[in-house]
Amino acid sequence: MKAVVITGFGAEPQLAELPVPQPGPGEVLVRLHAAALNPFDWKVAEGALKDVAEHSFPLVMGSDGAGVVESIGDGVNRFRPGDTVYGQFMSVRHGRGSYAEYALAAEDGKIARIPDNLPFPVAAALPTAGVTAYQAIEATRLDTGHVILINGASGGVGQSAVQFAALQGARVLATATADIAGHLRELGAHETIDFTAAPTAEQVLAAHPEGIDAVLDLVTHPGGDIGALAGLLKPGGIFVSTNHAADPEALAAREIRGVNLSNNPTRAELEALADLTAAGKLRVTINTEVPLADAPATVTRARTGPARGKTVILL
Ligand SMILES: NC(=O)c1ccc[n+]([C@@H]2O[C@H](COP(=O)([O-])OP(=O)(O)OC[C@H]3O[C@@H](n4cnc5c(N)ncnc54)[C@H](OP(=O)(O)O)[C@@H]3O)[C@@H](O)[C@H]2O)c1
Repeated sequence: MKAVVITGFGAEPQLAELPVPQPGPGEVLVRLHAAALNPFDWKVAEGALKDVAEHSFPLVMGSDGAGVVESIGDGVNRFRPGDTVYGQFMSVRHGRGSYAEYALAAEDGKIARIPDNLPFPVAAALPTAGVTAYQAIEATRLDTGHVILINGASGGVGQSAVQFAALQGARVLATATADIAGHLRELGAHETIDFTAAPTAEQVLAAHPEGIDAVLDLVTHPGGDIGALAGLLKPGGIFVSTNHAADPEALAAREIRGVNLSNNPTRAELEALADLTAAGKLRVTINTEVPLADAPATVTRARTGPARGKTVILL
């Protein structure tokens, strides 16, 4: 099978020919038709997990994918060949990922069936970004009328988070450059903040001097300064980071709840997300679709390029 691999930490992604893996007991082999890129994919390629897990090289890149069950291992009874499924397929210990024509998953792992009318590229774009957005907005415990700032709203997680927050009845402030501000308002943002025009916190403070209820920060990196954004919160507010930038103890001293979120999809959440998307209630923007042959160059570009939605590899 063809796959996009790296041969070591920090190596350039490249196309490779690998044997099709065979499902062991409890495993499902999926013929993937689409895989989606996430920033986590190149963070892993650069070694983000090297101190916490063994890696096998060549390492197939990627986590998210969608396709059709090709075969099943002994003892599998939840899935059958021919089922359409999607989910997360990364296993660095085994050198496995989703930028490949075939991928293995544990039947009780992070995969779920998808409705027939959900196209593979859309399904592939959902697992990490959609689940993270859903779990982050759940963590904020928003109520009708609460005001939330979504910092990094124009990207994959942010666009879904805007929709989930609006569905909760919150007033949504979304960071966006001018080219994508209209799209975010269509998704449910009430106010957009051009973070290239002036610091986001200054703009939010000017519009909401009384303070806001929640911040979902998708931008600040570990060790980065969240002071100005956290300073926008009223006592009792909540700060959620997807990049472990929050210091819950320091925030608690200011009566703010700090959460560092690591997405961890359940099958029920994946099923619900797929149903919601198939029903048109969650909109996923696919910015770029590329064939597998162009994937290495696309992955390299995506590391530094702007993100206006999801990039999907067609397999
Ligand atoms: N912990 C977890 O489980 C988990 C799960 C998913 C994602 N994440 C992390 O969460 C972050 C967001 O993920 P993603 O998939 O949404 O990434 P993405 O698709 O690359 O989107 C990031 C967005 O942030 C925008 N941005 C960059 N600098 C900004 C700034 N200073 N102010 C406001 N917006 C800014 C970018 O805009 P431009 O393109 O214009 O620069 C881009 O639209 C990533 O760091 C990712 O690794 C963590």
